[in-house]
Amino acid sequence: MSQYDTPLYTGLLLHIKRNPFQFHIPGHKSGSGIDPDFRRFVGDNVLKLDLINIEPLDDLHQPHGIIKKAQELAAEAFGADYTFFSVQGTSGAIMTMVMSVCGPGDKIIVPRNVHKSVMSAIVFSGAVPVFVHPEVDPVLGISHGITPEAVSKALQQNPDAKAVLVINPTYYGISADLKGIVDIAHTYHVPVLVDEAHGVHIHFDDELPLSAMQAGADMSATSVHKLGGSLTQSSILNMKEGLVSKNRVQSIFSMLTTTSTSYILLASLDVARKRLATEGEILIKETTRLAQKTRRRINDIDHLYCVGSEILGTKATYDYDPTKLIISVKDLGITGHDAEKWLREVYHIEVELSDLYNILCIVTPGDTETELDLLVKALQDLSDTFAHLSGKVDVKVLLPEIPSLALTPRDAFYADTEFVPLSDSAGRIIAEFVMVYPPGIPIFIPGEIITEENIAYIQKNIEAGLPVQGPEDDTLKTIKVIKEHQAIQ
Ligand SMILES: Cc1ncc(COP(=O)(O)O)c(C=O)c1O
Repeated sequence: MSQYDTPLYTGLLLHIKRNPFQFHIPGHKSGSGIDPDFRRFVGDNVLKLDLINIEPLDDLHQPHGIIKKAQELAAEAFGADYTFFSVQGTSGAIMTMVMSVCGPGDKIIVPRNVHKSVMSAIVFSGAVPVFVHPEVDPVLGISHGITPEAVSKALQQNPDAKAVLVINPTYYGISADLKGIVDIAHTYHVPVLVDEAHGVHIHFDDELPLSAMQAGADMSATSVHKLGGSLTQSSILNMKEGLVSKNRVQSIFSMLTTTSTSYILLASLDVARKRLATEGEILIKETTRLAQKTRRRINDIDHLYCVGSEILGTKATYDYDPTKLIISVKDLGITGHDAEKWLREVYHIEVELSDLYNILCIVTPGDTETELDLLVKALQDLSDTFAHLSGKVDVKVLLPEIPSLALTPRDAFYADTEFVPLSDSAGRIIAEFVMVYPPGIPIFIPGEIITEENIAYIQKNIEAGLPVQGPEDDTLKTIKVIKEHQAIQ
């Protein structure tokens, strides 16, 4: 087999060509039984690909045929010993990583700015998080990665930890010294799990930051769908054997995965891997060229700043992915969310995310000069439109302290709880998550002590129109906290 082969996709095409009579699910039977409008819009071929794990098509839960071959090619392409395909996004792969190495009471070293799937896995497994503070950027108002020094300190204090989890690169494209972190963790025989949701492409171009497998990490959960050209929800879990067991990972993956795995998603992983392995370097270099050109043009616009290599050099900003355009709008006197809305309404541009101070735009092989010219034109117009506010609005970056953890997330999640007004909740222990999505990084996780400062930060995000999510009361007027039991008189 070569990287030009697509055993899974080709196997499906051969099966479809044989045109078998289908007496199995999905009940729409290649589209014959589906809503005709939908069928007309999406086309017949995609419905024919919507198959299920009948014997000739292998089974993701126990691969031995075309899925196994496709996973083996992916492992070769990503420099892994084994690759598992996920139809439940990188969230599913992250939960598998954590639950493969942690059980109840086990410690796991994690940055506090982890994605909610890490915290969900911590609640499900009963693991105890040992938080490492990420480096906070006071200019941009965002968190970067963690440093080897911080990991070293955490391991000295917790040599019995079962894993170190690293986000690399971050959503904003900033990388930590991953190899340094892996080397330190391995001296303690502790496996390193990498949330590589935003880094599938970095493996295929030596000029981009080191990928998890290149840095010697033990597992990585990698979103092929985000930047690697497969369909939404399709991701992979790469692993190197040694400190983690392949059979354990396979069985946890299977426990967390639907039995009705989408072959459209699986086939898209197979073809995306082929493209990355055979053309990835050329495509990514051209993408980087386009992004760098755009970055320079944005930096020529008054009041806007597009982050580049000058950000590097701190212990947590070791490298960066130039295909991510972090555009700071705070000197324009507006929030990132204001800019996002304005670009939508005036230019029909949808950005990847906005926060209080920035917007993030991603550039991929799907872009050409035409779209990037439009982005630059729109940003010039944005700057001209709001220039009168520049310097007149308070742009002090507000980033609250990370709250203290009073209970394990699992104990808090399952405790006796009550609802109290958010505004009166300072000092109480929260029993639910609060986060802004995207990027899905928790402001609070269950078990933390609520502070006035964090309430103000939540309120500031709500006022700015940012999507604060998580609490059962989605108006955020009340919040779920651990019940305080009064002493019996
Ligand atoms: C840092 C990070 N990790 C994990 C995920 C989860 O990925 P997925 O949406 O594929 O489940 C995301 C999603 O945005 C993310 O930003």
